[in-house]
Amino acid sequence: MIDLRLKGVSKSYGKNTVVKSLDMKIASGELIALLGPSGCGKTTILKIIAGLQQPDEGTVFFGSQVMNSVPAEKREAVMVFQNYLLFPFMTVEENIAFGLKMRRTDKAVIKERVNEILALIRMEGMGRRKPSELSGGQKQRVALARALVLRPQLLLLDEPLSNLDAHLRDEMRELILRVHREFQVTTVFVTHDQEEAVLLADRIALIFEGNLHQFAPVRDFYERPQSERVASFFGNSNFLKGFCSGQAVETELGAFKTPLTGENESGRTVSLMIRPEHIIPGKGEDNSFLCPIRSKIYMGSFIRYRIEVGEGLWDVIDGPEARKGYEEGESAWFTFPPHMIWLV
Ligand SMILES: Nc1ncnc2c1ncn2[C@@H]1O[C@H](COP(=O)(O)OP(=O)(O)OP(=O)(O)O)[C@@H](O)[C@H]1O
Ligand SMILES: [Mg+2]
Repeated sequence: MIDLRLKGVSKSYGKNTVVKSLDMKIASGELIALLGPSGCGKTTILKIIAGLQQPDEGTVFFGSQVMNSVPAEKREAVMVFQNYLLFPFMTVEENIAFGLKMRRTDKAVIKERVNEILALIRMEGMGRRKPSELSGGQKQRVALARALVLRPQLLLLDEPLSNLDAHLRDEMRELILRVHREFQVTTVFVTHDQEEAVLLADRIALIFEGNLHQFAPVRDFYERPQSERVASFFGNSNFLKGFCSGQAVETELGAFKTPLTGENESGRTVSLMIRPEHIIPGKGEDNSFLCPIRSKIYMGSFIRYRIEVGEGLWDVIDGPEARKGYEEGESAWFTFPPHMIWLV
């Protein structure tokens, strides 16, 4: 187990800068998701950590040790690639044993560790098969096993679930969590799927175009996003421009009370944000407004209203316990609870 730090790490391919002055600190034993759309630089970052790519600028630390000039095979960090890269002519056992053989590990130890790992990935009895005789999910697990057998300090997984169908995804997710618990290995995994990141990670690093936009515990992305873009990447949000005025935000619709503004912030322009599921149909003590209902859609377990808030259209999710039975076309009361408002 080690903690990992990237300091001012940048990487360009020709004129294309794909990682931009990245600062990140990952504590020993954490499970971190690098999340972002395709092409944002996730694989490149993982390769820089693994030592398979050199950064143009910046420093990679494992603990207090500078790793920039330490070659990949001496890093105690193992990367599992997006497309597995198993050796097709070797059996499952040989694939898993390969790294240990290269390290001249004792034969008996290799055998014992390979068997141990085969049991962990629930593939006992399949050690003699070739990769071509495995399903996608099994190949993915062998690729993971091949990394784990080396008992790395740092496990780097590039889109470990992307090639799997829904059922195998659940299984693989389970396995990653189990492995993480059992080995307590610091793990960084890459994904472009926010749901996957939420389900697996302790903290998420959200990256757009090579820039780290927010690095925080999962809940913060819903409740305390740092920008409209971050908020929108994590589900549906409503925004309204305004400016701070005492304990409220003044908007075209009126003043929204919120505990987030202080006296010294008066005049600051902000975007007020609230999630559709946090808006309460009905009149409350504070922050209740009469809003025209543009549309109403029955979604089975909930109702979705689209309401006119100032110049914009907001979504409201009305859960089964709070059904008001408002109708399309009428104006109705909606309450925006002060403690559910977030400012970006
Ligand atoms: N060896 C290379 N030479 C030139 N450009 C590259 C190279 N590797 C990656 N790139 C470019 O760098 C950018 C980031 O690539 P990277 O593979 O890190 O993205 P990613 O976030 O992993 O994407 P995906 O989700 O599609 O795997 C892309 O625009 C890609 O085209
Ligand atoms: Mg990639």
